[in-house]
Amino acid sequence: MPVALITGASEGLGKALATALAERHWALVIDARRAPQLLAVADELRRHTDVRAIVGDVTDIEHRAALARAVDEAGRLDLLVNNASTLGPTPLRPLAEVDVFELAEVFRTNAGAPFDLITRVLPMLRRSDGAVVNVSSDAAIEHYERWGAYGAGKAALDHLTLTLAAENPSGHFYAIDPGDMRTAMHQAAYVGEDISDRPLPETVVPALLNLIDARPVSGRYRAAEFATSAEVAS
Ligand SMILES: NC(=O)c1ccc[n+]([C@@H]2O[C@H](COP(=O)([O-])OP(=O)(O)OC[C@H]3O[C@@H](n4cnc5c(N)ncnc54)[C@H](OP(=O)(O)O)[C@@H]3O)[C@@H](O)[C@H]2O)c1
Repeated sequence: MPVALITGASEGLGKALATALAERHWALVIDARRAPQLLAVADELRRHTDVRAIVGDVTDIEHRAALARAVDEAGRLDLLVNNASTLGPTPLRPLAEVDVFELAEVFRTNAGAPFDLITRVLPMLRRSDGAVVNVSSDAAIEHYERWGAYGAGKAALDHLTLTLAAENPSGHFYAIDPGDMRTAMHQAAYVGEDISDRPLPETVVPALLNLIDARPVSGRYRAAEFATSAEVAS
């Protein structure tokens, strides 16, 4: 049974992807900070597969060690999805109004934690020819006003992903921009605005599954590049 470690799997894209993989009978290691939400999702997914749910914050080194131990106990790792992320201080503000400690926290969450998790589980991923999917954003390559801290953190994540790819040519390292999605994070960026026109995260999952199955050359991609025409139309 293939095994995936997905961070931030109690809601949004992480939950949607965990659900799809569970339905394909992948075993899962999942995390999130809030216990009730994570444990409820884990209970749902156990109808399909083995689930190890570890409550914690990806910025906590002990928590990341616990995630790596859970993967060890599962016996193999085929996919690491670094999905948990922060916008930084909200409401979003101009970059010059973000202080250096806030910026450091964004980098710690959006680049440092994924990097540390990758290095901890890389030997297991290599043994199963597994893949790393780092969830990025269009903000990593565009320069939107007020998105500077988040965008810089995602740009760092992209850079780490592509350097690991260059250094490990036989590996599978992906930075994936999922596109806008109707989630709590998106709503937090657009306080008080109606985001009901954004697609649900479940609509992005088929493209992610196509990417995971297709194993293209390592790189930075938009999820939409892996959507079939039927998925785009739906
Ligand atoms: N939504 C969009 O429009 C959009 C666009 C481009 C890229 N993205 C990227 O897509 C990914 C998923 O975003 P989303 O919109 O699905 O987010 P979401 O719905 O807000 O869900 C975030 C998930 O991550 C968990 N989480 C957050 N911080 C964490 C931490 N420090 N440690 C452990 N778990 C943490 C949350 O649970 P707890 O709060 O309980 O920890 C939750 O399960 C992110 O990487 C985001 O940057 C999103």
